[in-house]
Amino acid sequence: MKFFVDTADTDAIAELNDLGMVDGVTTNPSLIFKSGRDIKEVTKQICDMVSGPVSAETVALDADGMIAEGRELAKIADNITIKVPLTWAGLKACKVLSGEGRMVNVTLCFSANQALLAAKAGATFISPFIGRLDDLNLDGMDLIEEIRTIYDNYDFETEILAASIRSVNHMKEAALIGADVATAPPNVIKAMANHALTDKGLDAFLKDWEKTGQKIL
Ligand code: G3P
Repeated sequence: MKFFVDTADTDAIAELNDLGMVDGVTTNPSLIFKSGRDIKEVTKQICDMVSGPVSAETVALDADGMIAEGRELAKIADNITIKVPLTWAGLKACKVLSGEGRMVNVTLCFSANQALLAAKAGATFISPFIGRLDDLNLDGMDLIEEIRTIYDNYDFETEILAASIRSVNHMKEAALIGADVATAPPNVIKAMANHALTDKGLDAFLKDWEKTGQKIL
């Protein structure tokens, strides 16, 4: 499973990138707002750091507007993925932009039927939002499972990009189901390294090592 980082925080991206943990980056208008930076300037900086796909989201509501904004965002760098919402207009924009050979991430997906439409429209990535379904007492992972089955049934090439990931368990479950990509906030990716037994074991080893009176360096 590829790891995308769901943030516009360039320091956080750099830290994970140095460890080879960043296969791509996703941003959205809320994350750009949180960064306090200009969309083109911060997106360019991210594209210079990361060689994989970097999603930048359009904000127009009509297809022509999304297409124009998508083309403008694509000028930032070759690895830009244009993000459009899963609306009828978004599907039209996806069809046109993917037909021009551009990467398109269709976002705000909450049903298997929406994902089926995005694949038919030529999406490079479909972004089902797990956490926001969980928030409504639904199971976001059921959606990932349904889309996996449908895409495999018909050999769709659209990659499942599990989004709105909120926990380390989301990461594990997305990987078990076979999501192609998971995009997660930096703190969730870092938390995957944590285990109480690792901390406890390390503590015991260090106490015994101290008793030996030895040094390695
Ligand atoms: O990639 C979409 C993601 O940023 C949404 O996450 O936590 O705002 O539902 P969240």
